[in-house]
Amino acid sequence: MKLERHADLKPLNTFGIAATAAALARFSSVEDLRELLASPELSGVKRLVLGGGSNVLFTQDFDGLVLLNELPGIEVVREEEGHVVVKAGAGVIWHELVMHAVGQGWGGIENLSLIPGKVGAAPMQNIGAYGVEIKDCFESLEALRVSDGEIVRFTKTECAFGYRESFFKRAGKDRFIILSVSLRLTTANHVLRTDYGNIKDELSRGGIATPTIRQVSDAVIAIRRSKLPDPAILGNAGSFFKNPVVPGDVAERIRAEHPNAPIYPSSDGQAKLAAGWLIEQCGWKGKRAGACGVHERQALVLVNHGGAIGKEVYDLSEAVLRSVHKRFGVELEREVNII
Ligand code: FAD
Ligand code: EPU
Repeated sequence: MKLERHADLKPLNTFGIAATAAALARFSSVEDLRELLASPELSGVKRLVLGGGSNVLFTQDFDGLVLLNELPGIEVVREEEGHVVVKAGAGVIWHELVMHAVGQGWGGIENLSLIPGKVGAAPMQNIGAYGVEIKDCFESLEALRVSDGEIVRFTKTECAFGYRESFFKRAGKDRFIILSVSLRLTTANHVLRTDYGNIKDELSRGGIATPTIRQVSDAVIAIRRSKLPDPAILGNAGSFFKNPVVPGDVAERIRAEHPNAPIYPSSDGQAKLAAGWLIEQCGWKGKRAGACGVHERQALVLVNHGGAIGKEVYDLSEAVLRSVHKRFGVELEREVNII
């Protein structure tokens, strides 16, 4: 396998942070990957699997081996009444899988249009947007167990999906490399989710009352383009923090002071707050700190204005965390993986 030494990671992370890896190798087959893991030269070194690098912040150079996932392929594994089970290689670009599904008229992932990154990372944090999460159409995945090179199949229950959470972010971290993901999509009687956010407004602006799968996808793409910075222009990793889930009394206290605060009650008596709103209330929206800052249209997104180092972005996130805690007594948790 070809190893690149002192590899440049800047083009491989959407924050555009300059960092190097002691070594980097690309793999596009399971055999390649097994060979790399078995190599005596690489035994005992730290490893980091990277897809599109759209949910990582490098705060230092990576003193180990970066494994760049390029496993290809989209195939139909099963057709059932009204459904199709589709398997995609972990190295497929997520949005290309969505566009393939939309093109085929398969429903289920259109609300997840334009999320950056690759298929293999999607189950890691159970990607979600506009009222849909990958878990909603998830069938199974295959992962390579690093300890013995065996391929293990994981069901939805075994993945332990939660809000921006899974087994692979917790107990399974660094123990498994996701190789492929299978989704169960609809071929008839599609259940289109247009009730979330301003999808309905976007559709009615175009005079659409009963949308197709493609029209929902187009609406989501238009909304995302208007709100979120394009990493090709302004480095970022999407929402830097998760939306915090707090006990009901905490949400009530905030509502008493701010009757218009966005608060989403859940059935267990808890409530989800909008971290972007909390951060904006603390005066951070559009603020700059050296070469990085808080996005001017979405306070949940930290951005690299050019030349920022990872430590700077991390320090800014720390300052944001502290001020939200001081003002609201709410602890934010980072969504982005800190390396
Ligand atoms: P990477 O950043 O490469 O990796 C992320 C983590 O997963 C790392 O810890 C890595 O080691 C691990 N990993 C990657 N591949 C594998 C594998 N095959 N096996 C095991 N571990 C692996 N996320 C959402 O959920 N919803 C959104 O709406 C959303 N919007 C975004 C908008 C923008 C502009 C950006 C930049 C990001 C957004 N994100 C969103 C975050 C990001 O796109 C997702 O988390 C995405 O799934 C990350 O994919 P990736 O391939 O880039 O992962
Ligand atoms: N808000 C503000 N100020 C801001 C930003 C948001 O007041 O600066 C308010 C909005 O007005 C709205 C609420 O906060 O009332 C929620 O905002 P928005 O709909 O933009 O969504 P979000 O909660 O900020 C989440 C996800 C996104 C996902 C969108 C759409 C998390 C951490 N983020 O953002 O996912 O695309 O909803 O579903 O759950 C990501 O994970 O990287 C990501 C971009």
